[in-house]
Amino acid sequence: DVFRHVRTFSTADKPTVVEESTKTHPSTNVCTFSLDKRQCFDDMVEFRKKQARSSVVVQVGNPLKSAALVNQVCSRHGNVSNLFHYTHKDKELLLLEFDSELSAVNLLASCSHNNNVKVIPAASPFLWLKAMPSESSASMSARFPLIMNEDNLANDNLEELLSNAKSISEQMIILEDQTRLSEIGHRLRWITCVQIERMLSGLFPSLQVLPFGSFVNGCGRNGCDLDMAVSLDGHCGMEPLEVKSPLIFQAKAAINNPRLQTQRHIEVFADILQNFTTGCTQVQRILQARVPIVKFYHEFTGVDCDLSMGSLTGVFMSELLYLYDKIDWRFRPLVTAVRHWGAWARLTDMVPGPRITNFTLTLMVVFFLQRRSPAILPTLSEMIKLARPQVDTRQTNDVDCTFLRDPAMFQERGKLNQESLEDLFVEFLRFIESFDFNERSVSIITGTALRKFDSKPLYVQNPLERELNVGRNVNLKELTRVVMEARNALYILETQEDQGPANWGLLALPRAERVRRLNPKSSHHNHVPQIDMKDLFSTDTDDEIDDFIEAKVS
Ligand code: GTP
Ligand code: MG
Repeated sequence: DVFRHVRTFSTADKPTVVEESTKTHPSTNVCTFSLDKRQCFDDMVEFRKKQARSSVVVQVGNPLKSAALVNQVCSRHGNVSNLFHYTHKDKELLLLEFDSELSAVNLLASCSHNNNVKVIPAASPFLWLKAMPSESSASMSARFPLIMNEDNLANDNLEELLSNAKSISEQMIILEDQTRLSEIGHRLRWITCVQIERMLSGLFPSLQVLPFGSFVNGCGRNGCDLDMAVSLDGHCGMEPLEVKSPLIFQAKAAINNPRLQTQRHIEVFADILQNFTTGCTQVQRILQARVPIVKFYHEFTGVDCDLSMGSLTGVFMSELLYLYDKIDWRFRPLVTAVRHWGAWARLTDMVPGPRITNFTLTLMVVFFLQRRSPAILPTLSEMIKLARPQVDTRQTNDVDCTFLRDPAMFQERGKLNQESLEDLFVEFLRFIESFDFNERSVSIITGTALRKFDSKPLYVQNPLERELNVGRNVNLKELTRVVMEARNALYILETQEDQGPANWGLLALPRAERVRRLNPKSSHHNHVPQIDMKDLFSTDTDDEIDDFIEAKVS
C-alpha cells in the first residue's frame, strides 16, 4: 500500500525552482488525470487533447529572463495555468497552458509571421519569442505559475536509488517511477497530435488523430516514439450518430481498392507534413508496409513519429493494454522491468529485425498474469462477453474490437492474488524459461497455451487480428537467446547474496550483461547452466535470412 501511494502520487517530473520569488504554485496540479484510476481511455484522450488545444510552445533565448515576459504577453488572452521549461538540442522552450482552449486560439490569432525571412505562412502552436528591446525587465512581473524542467531523461542517481531499495519489488517500483514518460513528454506528444489534426482537418473537418502504442497505454518511457492513426470520418470505430438533416454531402467516389486509396491519402498527408507543417522534418513515406505509414521527426519536441491510416486496431490494442494497467497496479512495473531486462540483455532492438519486440514481450506479460492463480488480469474473451451494447462496440476495417471498457469490473478480483512484484518477475522469467515454444502459442484471448497455428519459432497471437502472429519476425536464434537470458537472469537473481550491497537485484542484471559483453568467457557466466537448443525445439527449419528480410520489408 505504501508503494501504491508512492506510485500514484509522484510524477517523474521534478519541479525546479528557477528563482525563489517566482515559486507561487505547488506542483500537485500539474497532472490530476492520472490520479483517477477508473477513467476510461476515451475520457483520457479527450482530457489530454483539450489540454493540448489549450497549450502553446514558445522558443526563447533565455528562459530565466523570458518566462515572465511570455507569461505576461499570454496572460492578455486568458488565464495561464501551467508553464514548463524544457530544452531540446540547443533550443530553450517554454510550454504554456491556458485554462481554456479559446485563450490559446485568441493568442494564435494575434501572432504574426517573421517578415524578415521568406516563410510558409502556416500557423501552428509552436511559436518564437522575438527580442523586444523596449520591454524593461522591471516591467516583467515575476508572476508565473510553475516552471518544471525536463531533467529526468538521464537519471544520474537511478543506480543509487536502486541500490538503496529494500527489496527487488521496491526496485521495480523505483525503476518504473524514474523512467516513466515525464509529464512534459506526455504534453509534447499530445500537442503534436493536435497540431497534425489541425493541419489535416482543413481537408477533412471531422478528422481525428488518435495516438497509440506505449505512449498512451501507460508503458511509455522517456524518449518513446509517437504512433498515430488517422480516423478520416472522426467516428473512431464507433457507430455513427443518427443523421438528422436530410442534406448530405455530394459523394466523391473513392478508388475501388482500399489499400491503394490509403496509400494515396498517406502520400498527400506526407506532402502536407513535409511542405507545410512546422517542425516536421525527415519525412519518409513507407507505402508498401502492411499498414502504410509516414515517418517523421519533430524538431521542436525531439519525438520520432509514425502516422498511419486505414486501421485503428493499434489504437484499440493500446486501449486494451491501458485497461490492463488500470485493472492491476502491478502490470506497469512488471512490464517496465521486463522491457528493461529485454534491453539490458539486448533481446530487443531499436530497428526492426529478427529480435523480439517490446510489444510482443508486453503481450507475454499479459498472458502470464492471466494464468496466475488467482488470475491477476482477465482474458480478452471475458472482456468481450461482458461488453455493453453500443458503449463498448468498436469496429475498424471489418475487425471487431468490442470488449468491456470499464476496468472497475475486474479491479477487485485481481486483489485476491497477493503475489509481490519480485515473485511475479521471477515467475515470469521461469515461465519464459519453461514454456513449450516449439508446440504452443501464446494467446491472451483465452489465456491458454493452444497448439501453434504456423511453423514460426514463436507464435504470439494478435488478439484483435486473430490470424496474425506478432512474434513472426523472431527467428530461432533470437528465441533461444530469450530463453537463455531468462535462465541467466534467474540464476543471477537467485544467487544475489554473492553480490555486493551495491550490486544486487535488478542492478545485477545490466552489470552482469556488461561484464559478459566485455569478457564473454568471464568465469561468472560459465557457472550459469547452459541450455541445449535441442531440448527446446525438435526441428530447426528456420531460415534466418528470409525472416530477417521479411521483417525488414514488413
Ligand atoms: P515502444 O515504442 O517500444 O515503447 O513500444 P510500443 O508498444 O509503442 O511499440 P511500437 O511503437 O513498435 O508499436 C506501436 C503499436 O503498434 C503497438 O503498441 C501495437 O499496438 C502495434 N504493433 C507493434 N508491433 C506490432 C506487430 O508486430 N503486429 C501488430 N499487429 N501490431 C503491432
Ligand atoms: Mg511506440
